[in-house]
Amino acid sequence: MSLITSNLTPNIGAEIKADLNTLLGGTAAAEIRDILEQRCVIVFRELGLSDEQQLAFTATLGEVILEGDEGIYKVTLDVNENAHADYLKGAFYWHIDGTTLTVPILASLLSAWKLSETGGDTEFANTYAAYDALPETDKEAYSKLKVVHSLENAQQYVQPEPSYAELQAWRQAPSNTLPLVWNHKSGRKSLVLGSTAAYIEGMEYQEGRALLCKLREWATQPQFVYRHKWTVGDLVIWDNTGTMHRATSYPLDSGRMMHRTKLAGEESFA
Ligand code: SIN
Repeated sequence: MSLITSNLTPNIGAEIKADLNTLLGGTAAAEIRDILEQRCVIVFRELGLSDEQQLAFTATLGEVILEGDEGIYKVTLDVNENAHADYLKGAFYWHIDGTTLTVPILASLLSAWKLSETGGDTEFANTYAAYDALPETDKEAYSKLKVVHSLENAQQYVQPEPSYAELQAWRQAPSNTLPLVWNHKSGRKSLVLGSTAAYIEGMEYQEGRALLCKLREWATQPQFVYRHKWTVGDLVIWDNTGTMHRATSYPLDSGRMMHRTKLAGEESFA
């Protein structure tokens, strides 16, 4: 196959160089999916895809979830471009997409259209590698723990003093109880953490919060993290089932604009 691949860090991230015809024709799709599962994040530098090309490329990799205008969702804090921009401030905190769903999305594809003059990198943490590196006694202790996730918990990071109406709106999204350790069909295991993780079921609240904090700190150590510094035209894909991600801070009025497409999930958390 005509892909040129190199690893970005020992534990996470690969860069792929390929010509557009190969990517859009789908002939490398199986190989790309394989690299995505093994490396969690794939970077295509300065690919410069149009929206139509990004959608077409996404469709070669799986089932596209259509969102936003004709399938392209604008990730921006500019309310003139995205009416839900306020919610997107949650992206500044480590998270997994879709933790309030039974089947989370498989992957997101993000392309850079306009960058902030400062900040606005995106970080990804490999939650497979973080699990694998745990001491065996911890793996055993965590194997049966269940964590309650909610949109409310994530939004509290952004808006610690919500209006009553805002609180009620967050609670429209049902909370979800998920295993702390995800046993994937592949046989691999990953940690399910992030800003939606509110408390551990059956554990004293403060003790559970402390464990969630400790595990987030563990999973986001430098050896598990890839930080992408964007150039306009870059396309980055991440495996949402084996990573957490966050945007590093940037000015709210920077006009930073990313276009996102998503692949439907293929595996439930259970
Ligand atoms: C996201 O959390 O999906 C967006 C990340 C970013 O804007 O860098």
